Amino acid sequence: MAEKTAAEMKEKILAKFAEVFGEGEGTKAYFAPGRVNMIGEHTDYNGGHVFPCALTIGTYGAARKREDRKLRFYSMNFGHLGIIESSLDELEPAKKSGWTNYPKGVMWAFEKRGFEIPCGMDLMLNGNIPNGSGLSSSASVEVLTGFILRDFFGFDVTNQDLALIGQYSENNFNGVNCGIMDQFAIAMGKEGQAIFLDTADLSFEYAPIKLENAKIVISCSNKKRGLGDSKYNERRSECETALAEIQKVVGINSLGDLNEEQFEMYKSAIKDEVRVKRAKHAVYENQRTVKAVEALKNNDVELFGKLMNESHISLQYDYEVTGIELDTLVEEAWKVDGVIGSRMTGAGFGGCTVSIVKTDAIDSFIDKVGKAYKDKIGYAADFYVVEIGDGPTVL
Ligand code: GLA
Repeated sequence: MAEKTAAEMKEKILAKFAEVFGEGEGTKAYFAPGRVNMIGEHTDYNGGHVFPCALTIGTYGAARKREDRKLRFYSMNFGHLGIIESSLDELEPAKKSGWTNYPKGVMWAFEKRGFEIPCGMDLMLNGNIPNGSGLSSSASVEVLTGFILRDFFGFDVTNQDLALIGQYSENNFNGVNCGIMDQFAIAMGKEGQAIFLDTADLSFEYAPIKLENAKIVISCSNKKRGLGDSKYNERRSECETALAEIQKVVGINSLGDLNEEQFEMYKSAIKDEVRVKRAKHAVYENQRTVKAVEALKNNDVELFGKLMNESHISLQYDYEVTGIELDTLVEEAWKVDGVIGSRMTGAGFGGCTVSIVKTDAIDSFIDKVGKAYKDKIGYAADFYVVEIGDGPTVL
């Protein structure tokens, strides 16, 4: 992918900002990344570990304070919608507000926390994360908005708070019961490093992804994934029910408290076969994530890749969140020489896969997986060779 540099993206968004909102003083440009999760899927709302990293692709923003309470939004990705107007006095979710529910939700969440937003703003966004791909374009917009609010009004919040506020807004304003992973990965991102986060207590460490002669390749299925109308919330409640059943026989706080042996010992407390599979995934995936990070620390990228593959199988058969598009991308990837590991990433039900591919095999990977996917699914996939980038910044 020919990625434009941050400087070019900044110039582009500032020019468009002036065209749409008019010239003026005090316009600033910002960036917040997207994220990819390497391993630890559907564990973040089960008190388990995740291992995501921020990307160098993400959301560019330009913003300027206003003297009134109006909010004017414009997305270069949805240019046909034109300017969408609102106001700080109208911070309520509405279907007709479309994508602006994300920045509005964050403003609402700041106010809920007692931070009064003193004036409105004009806000323009331009994302280069494929929309609806499962690389967290919405969390990127949330963290970006929080970052701009802090920069404009000096709110006393840390980057970790920006993640929590973003998640709060997604849960309570946008109605998606997501965990903390996406907003955390974006707000806390660090170049070259993945974040090994324990979602039980938010303790974390950075772990460098040292891939000699290999790169991270994201394959986008182009099957759109909308978390709101997907089965995400259903999976979450299945896990909650399974936890409550296990809690009748053993005192744990979350499924992440169990290792594999303990799960096998207590699983008969779960009174439904489907829920046993869901809980099994949550427990085994958490343990796999811990092992995968250990493998990486020991420079055992092969083992890391093997655990990625096992993660996919578990998401396919036990958690059942993959679907033919993601399974095809992964199964075709596994056939290619030079693929160290491949799995779906993010919520599933469409979206992307993440693969570690030897650098000299990337061309044939894209060619072979791309052709097989198109043959079977009927439309093309897109491929992105990505780099691990920093968290939100002023440009
Ligand atoms: C989505 C959610 C995250 C996480 C993943 C699955 O990306 O926003 O909180 O649950 O799905 O791992």
